[in-house]
Amino acid sequence: MNFTGQHILSVNQFEREDLEYIFNIAQKMEPYAHRKVRTKVLEGAILGNLFFEPSTRTRVSFGCAFNLLGGEVRETTGMQSSALAKGESLYDTARVVSSYSDVIAMRHPDTGSVAEFAEGSRVPVINGGDGANEHPTQALLDLYTIDKELAAFEQKIDGMHIAMVGDLKNGRTVHSLSKLLAMYKNIHLNLVSPSELAMPDYVVSALENAGHKVTISDKMEQNIDADIVYQTRIQEERFESQDEANKYRGQFRLNNEIYTKYCKSNTVIMHPLPRDSRSDANELDNDLNQNPNLAIFRQADNGVLIRMALFAMTLGVAEKVDKYQCDVPWVSSK
Ligand code: CP
Repeated sequence: MNFTGQHILSVNQFEREDLEYIFNIAQKMEPYAHRKVRTKVLEGAILGNLFFEPSTRTRVSFGCAFNLLGGEVRETTGMQSSALAKGESLYDTARVVSSYSDVIAMRHPDTGSVAEFAEGSRVPVINGGDGANEHPTQALLDLYTIDKELAAFEQKIDGMHIAMVGDLKNGRTVHSLSKLLAMYKNIHLNLVSPSELAMPDYVVSALENAGHKVTISDKMEQNIDADIVYQTRIQEERFESQDEANKYRGQFRLNNEIYTKYCKSNTVIMHPLPRDSRSDANELDNDLNQNPNLAIFRQADNGVLIRMALFAMTLGVAEKVDKYQCDVPWVSSK
């Protein structure tokens, strides 16, 4: 895929060789993300960062990634603070904001909304999450993290065993990640959720049709002796009522005792975050914070690298980043 000028809306756009190319560019971004050196390759460029749904990691890391490449960020947060609340269409918003920007990152609560917006945009649009549908940049950073974490144990994505746990119906990150995993070989997936919150059939079929082994269960303990445990939050914002969501919160809790008893000694723990740390949920306990196999913060850090790579690629400067290098004049503690 030639990424220059392209929207990034779905993981369906990628082939396996595209993933390897993105990861190679992301790896090259490390010295810039770690403030060893700076680049001005996007000096003068503007990111429109439009988040119509709550976010910490995705919004801030998109902004940081663009700043780290030398660009400026303009953003709007929340539906009520935008003209969408006055009835403006996504198309009109896109026409206007795309004339102010060189690239746009967007999150919106409705499935398909980012693709609809992209139809009106004159610059590349990157999907930061559209409802329960997709979160392609999260899937890329998840897969990049899995690759790095497994490499530390001399393992590969091909042939790995992963358990996905929690709200697999509404969790867009597991939908996008599963579609990427379908491009690899001989993966064993344990999909653990309440039956009402199971992974959509179309995702399971895609995995099975690609030759992967899929085991579906509503029991966590017997299904987490995997290379990776990918824990997720009950996506309460997708339920009709809080009472409905409350039925499922707290059903699958991973803590140190359960990890020690049921996981392998080197099982890598992932979570797209935010984890719900309230006592009635607590799907990933703080007592695992010192476990070296807890990869959740390395995972979030990798989001900056992946988003830097995507900006550089969509704006056609992936091979020019080093050419615009300059020193870091401050004392960096990174
Ligand atoms: N993982 C993720 O999308 O986090 P935020 O909701 O904080 O962006």
